[in-house]
Amino acid sequence: MKDNPNGGGRLVVVSNRLPLALRREGDTWRFEAGSGGLVSALGPVLKDRGGIWVGWPGNREPIERNLLRHILGPISKSSGYRLIPVTLEAEEVKDYYEGFANASIWPLFHDLQTECLFYPRFWEAYRAVNSRFARVVSRHSRHEDFIWVHDYHLMNLALELKKKDRERRCAFFLHIPFPPPDIFLKLPWRYEVMEALAAFDFVGFQTLRDRQNFQACLRAFWPSSRIRGRGPVVRISRDEGDVIAGALPISIDYGHFETLARSEMARETQKALRQTHGDRKIYLGVDRLDYTKGVLQRLEAYERTLEQNEELREKVVFVQILVPSREGVGAYSRLRDEIAQTVSRINGRFATTGWVPLIFFFRSLPPEELAGFYRAADVAVVTPLRDGMNLVAKEYCTCQLDNDGILILSEFAGAAGQLAQGALLVNPHDIEGLSKVLKEAFFMDLKDRRKRMRRLRQIVKRRDIFWWVDNFLRAAAGKALRDFPPGDLAPLLPQPLERHLS
Ligand code: UDP
Ligand code: G6P
Repeated sequence: MKDNPNGGGRLVVVSNRLPLALRREGDTWRFEAGSGGLVSALGPVLKDRGGIWVGWPGNREPIERNLLRHILGPISKSSGYRLIPVTLEAEEVKDYYEGFANASIWPLFHDLQTECLFYPRFWEAYRAVNSRFARVVSRHSRHEDFIWVHDYHLMNLALELKKKDRERRCAFFLHIPFPPPDIFLKLPWRYEVMEALAAFDFVGFQTLRDRQNFQACLRAFWPSSRIRGRGPVVRISRDEGDVIAGALPISIDYGHFETLARSEMARETQKALRQTHGDRKIYLGVDRLDYTKGVLQRLEAYERTLEQNEELREKVVFVQILVPSREGVGAYSRLRDEIAQTVSRINGRFATTGWVPLIFFFRSLPPEELAGFYRAADVAVVTPLRDGMNLVAKEYCTCQLDNDGILILSEFAGAAGQLAQGALLVNPHDIEGLSKVLKEAFFMDLKDRRKRMRRLRQIVKRRDIFWWVDNFLRAAAGKALRDFPPGDLAPLLPQPLERHLS
């Protein structure tokens, strides 16, 4: 890789996924935007500054290296940062991604231990894939670059990188919750994972509670470790070396979402929804199809509201958008069937000639159209059983240009720490309680709604994704985003392979 003319280290982001998902259809490869909060949050950061993003392009079938470069080259150019792929074998997708990452760590860290599978082969694959990521990062970066690793798929990366270069600067951000010791200690590879996390120079969490859980787990293995500092960032000292830990809630590109909400397509979508539903109140749920999102409990609460409040029937409609996710993991495909059955049960029970109470989308929507749904919705129902942050809550508030929507938010979403003042907080396990709040939202007067929504939008605006990234980088690297030199974006091997692309 060429020397950077500006000198100084560059920003190298590493995550399991690149911000796209490649898929084979016959002879052709298609790609679509990756889903989930990590990709939504980091895209604008690198676009603003340039840099390098290392990750898996999401393909499950093998792809020829030159063709992959030919696909990623133009995307790198148009997105403003270079994409470096790490490919995975089919077995690795099963054991590392669907296995250790999504059937061991994901449920454990979300307090859903009954969903956990702890197979030794998952852990072996996790170690092997982390080691491959480390090799790719080493090949495409230099000693002075700042390596920023994201999420639970790559907790072993610093350990692997430091095998080759002990002084490598490496920070980590966990997008999902970190559990307390009584849950974390169930992991058979608990010591190895803690040791790997402690190998990072800086470890960032979404909330203070997550950071404190991490400290408590660290203490379980290294009881003599000392914690120094107050406020969001602390230094933890052990004989083996120090690690700095911070609580830094991630956010969204506020300006971009406001622009999306003002777009022609968003306005058209809002108008179409209004025409279809007249003056019925629109309740909206937007989630990846995931058992942590509390969708079944939410639908049951809605059913209860309709059951107990005859006067609300035909005056409300619930729109639930579910983005397909991790379909190779058994728990996800089972949940999809359960949700489909619940939707049809509720519609079967309450629908009338001119009214369907529950509208269900099972696909991803383009960003402008999604912004139109956010704008049109009178009430957003964001009720995860547990969530690292939940960006949908922040996106909804940002798109409420008229300041009159209501956010119903789970106490167990990381976002509750910031948005408690304006949202209606609920316990998503309490179906009866949630059902009452759905009713309360229906009757809330305009003055109260405006006061709450203004407050919410101010909070999201003040602490947007650029606030987050600067604070993270200052704490972890001692400099802000603008201090990193832009990435080197020389084209990557263009070759005449257009016939394979779409
Ligand atoms: N999202 C999307 N297309 C859709 C619906 C949602 O790209 O049709 C995005 C949404 O804008 C948000 C992300 O998916 O940025 C979900 O992030 P969140 O933090 O709420 O949950 P996660 O999926 O990361 O668990
Ligand atoms: C959450 C995780 C991300 C992940 C996303 C989508 O946001 O924190 O790391 O990328 O879900 O899940 P997927 O398995 O499709 O990458």
